Amino acid sequence: MKGIILAGGHGTRLYPITLGISKQILPVYDKPMIYYPLSVLMLAGITDIVIISTPRDLPAFQRLLGDGSAIGLSLSYAEQAEPRGLADAFLVSQHYIGDDSVMLILGDNIFHGPGFSLMLQHAVKEVDGCVLFGYPVHNPQRYGVAEINGANELVDIQEKPEKPRSNIAITGLYVYSNDVVDIAGELRPSARGELEITDLNRAYIAQRRAELIQLGRGFVWLDTGTHESLIEAGQYVEILERRQGVRIACIEEIALRMGYIDAETCHQLGYRLGTSPYGRYIMDVASAR
Ligand code: G1P
Repeated sequence: MKGIILAGGHGTRLYPITLGISKQILPVYDKPMIYYPLSVLMLAGITDIVIISTPRDLPAFQRLLGDGSAIGLSLSYAEQAEPRGLADAFLVSQHYIGDDSVMLILGDNIFHGPGFSLMLQHAVKEVDGCVLFGYPVHNPQRYGVAEINGANELVDIQEKPEKPRSNIAITGLYVYSNDVVDIAGELRPSARGELEITDLNRAYIAQRRAELIQLGRGFVWLDTGTHESLIEAGQYVEILERRQGVRIACIEEIALRMGYIDAETCHQLGYRLGTSPYGRYIMDVASAR
């Protein structure tokens, strides 16, 4: 399975910060935002990943992550010149997807919760159509919203509805069979001129090939597209890391635990960042092996 991180867009809700820098490179406490979605793909067992961003911002991601080989990944980069919608990600990266299935994650989504890796690995193995992840929120109007019948099946999704039919938001993590490229190619732009991921998902619902995994109450899903949500996400990470003494979305640690790199390589990566607490943490994790 291939992975896609969509880190495009102009981040206009974060102006003036994003006039000079990509939203997905901004810090969420101790690391760049893109580390969080990248770590989700890594935990799913995906090592072949394409990062989609604007021509302006791609060089910054390349500077940050390179070709990924240092942490046992193969990273590619693809340009999306204009924000043409989330579903456009599959058209931008279709050559790279080839005959594979694919997991797409939005570059500003943060997931954290117990049992998440197993849930991801199950979705990767079982997907026939699409697998979506739902999360209860108090402001569903902001999101794609699931409509669920009495048998707890996903029957429809409405994009940013004024009158939501549930409080279950569709999160920015999506798993698809290879035919996603064909279905995305048939979509027409919505009223706001974008290829909507919700239209894509509805096509799978119509074919009865959509599964919804509901993330429970103990789970955390944050998006980071506004000044408030960005600082809240940073505070969440800070509290958790200080309390537990572990770091979340530490890509070097995940690479070690997933067997993508060995302890010695991990230690060297930490050494390079040595004067920062993040770097020291990586060295400690490697030494404990
Ligand atoms: C997009 C999708 C929406 C989804 C959300 C998750 O909305 O269109 O269906 O619920 O991502 O973050 P956006 O936040 O890009 O407007």
